[in-house]
Amino acid sequence: MLVVSTIADLRRALARAPRPVGLVPTMGYLHEGHASLVRRARRECAFVTASIFVNPTQFGPAEDLAKYPRDLPRDLAMLEREGTDLVFTPSPEDIYPKGFDTWVDVGAMTKRLEGEVRPGHFRGVTTVVLKLFNEFRAERAYFGQKDAQQVLVVKRMAADLDTGTEVVVCPTVREPDGLAMSSRNTYLKPEERKAATVLYRSLCHAQELCSGGERNAETLRRAVRDVLATEPRARVQYVSIADQATLEELDRVDQPALVSMAVLVGATRLIDNILL
Ligand code: PAF
Repeated sequence: MLVVSTIADLRRALARAPRPVGLVPTMGYLHEGHASLVRRARRECAFVTASIFVNPTQFGPAEDLAKYPRDLPRDLAMLEREGTDLVFTPSPEDIYPKGFDTWVDVGAMTKRLEGEVRPGHFRGVTTVVLKLFNEFRAERAYFGQKDAQQVLVVKRMAADLDTGTEVVVCPTVREPDGLAMSSRNTYLKPEERKAATVLYRSLCHAQELCSGGERNAETLRRAVRDVLATEPRARVQYVSIADQATLEELDRVDQPALVSMAVLVGATRLIDNILL
């Protein structure tokens, strides 16, 4: 496995790479969810690449950039185990050199849900992802459904800007008790870790109600909030039942819907979702 940290070295290595190339963009502190993306890329691509870059521009001023967990040796060992061919580990100066002043701003969809609570977040995501797409020129890039809105926003950008990279979405990987895997789970204290299972329980409740014929979106939102309210450590930021493609809030669930939420458990912000 080759590890490169400059754009010049990356270009040299990619020039010799067999096609198709698969890219797994990450911010490091990898877990089984990332491993599943690499495994899928391994099955579908001749050359599997990953990037590890804690992207400062997608963090708000009051967010966890400085304390975001990092463990490069462990990440590299995992990527090697999963059969990655090349890892790109740039510095912030490589990605945002002095004078950098060009941004990728996807429209309406980025103003909702995560975009409302984290203004500017998606601008940072799409800017760095477009740069990675430009550098890697990968045939496919692999993202987790856990970040449902990110997936939609990146797909929109890839289509609108003709990136030529197919965005492949892989299922959320969960702990045995249902908690969606996330690098941020590491912030949870033991009692918060237990409390955090309430997110998935509330999503499953919505799914059960919907399977039982409930179509009123407000009734479903309320039912999800009621389950979340049973956990005193959980503070809800939003619960949404929205159109799966546009993320517009629904009145009725008569079309494919995304149930998504952001919940603070202690000081840790968790997101999760399911498709109805
Ligand atoms: O999902 C992530 O880890 C990040 O948002 C991404 C896509 C690597 C961009 O920094």
